[in-house]
Amino acid sequence: MSTYNQLELSRRELLISSAATVVVTGTAASSAAAQPAGDDMKFTTPVAFTVNGERRELEVDNRTTLLDALREHLHLTGTKKGCDHGQCGACTVIVDGHRINSCLTLAVMHGGDEITTIEGLGQPGNLHPMQAAFVKHDGFQCGYCTPGQICSSIAVLEEIKADIPSHVTADLTGPAKLTAAEVRERMSGNICRCGAYSNILDAISEVGGFEV
Ligand code: FES
Ligand code: FES
Repeated sequence: MSTYNQLELSRRELLISSAATVVVTGTAASSAAAQPAGDDMKFTTPVAFTVNGERRELEVDNRTTLLDALREHLHLTGTKKGCDHGQCGACTVIVDGHRINSCLTLAVMHGGDEITTIEGLGQPGNLHPMQAAFVKHDGFQCGYCTPGQICSSIAVLEEIKADIPSHVTADLTGPAKLTAAEVRERMSGNICRCGAYSNILDAISEVGGFEV
């Protein structure tokens, strides 16, 4: 059971610590007041990168995703916004040779990068072989997921060529094999609500040169 002196000590310590809290809080409040407010605060940053071979310079809100920078600032609307949460792959673009979900990354993180969107792969009359294969094999219905599917497909073939293993690669010591199972696994982040998966696989197999 506590003695009177122990209780008295506790009370005194409590008062001291309360006073210290007031001092710290007061300091924090005055330092917050010293921050610039409203129009004085800087929320934008200049960023320059190359998109489809062309240097582009932007001043963007720091929170702007690469996807929004492409669509809203550069008006490259081929790249689609599906979920905006990294779960559908509709926003896939190729950055410095690697596919990424452009909705999951900030534009200001890509200064100096080389970005390729569906517009940079080919044009009507001069399609990229993967675009032509998607057309030939009916690898789409509504087409909304298609730009992301095509960017991913091209990057997938490069990943396999570079011996980058996937979750289904059985032999991690040998060269990665170009098989339907590998491609299915690697394309699993690209969702097609129309269910054109088998035709997409046919298109990739034609370009990649493997049997389905
Ligand atoms: Fe980026 Fe769905 S919009 S993954
Ligand atoms: Fe419609 Fe894939 S073609 S979502």
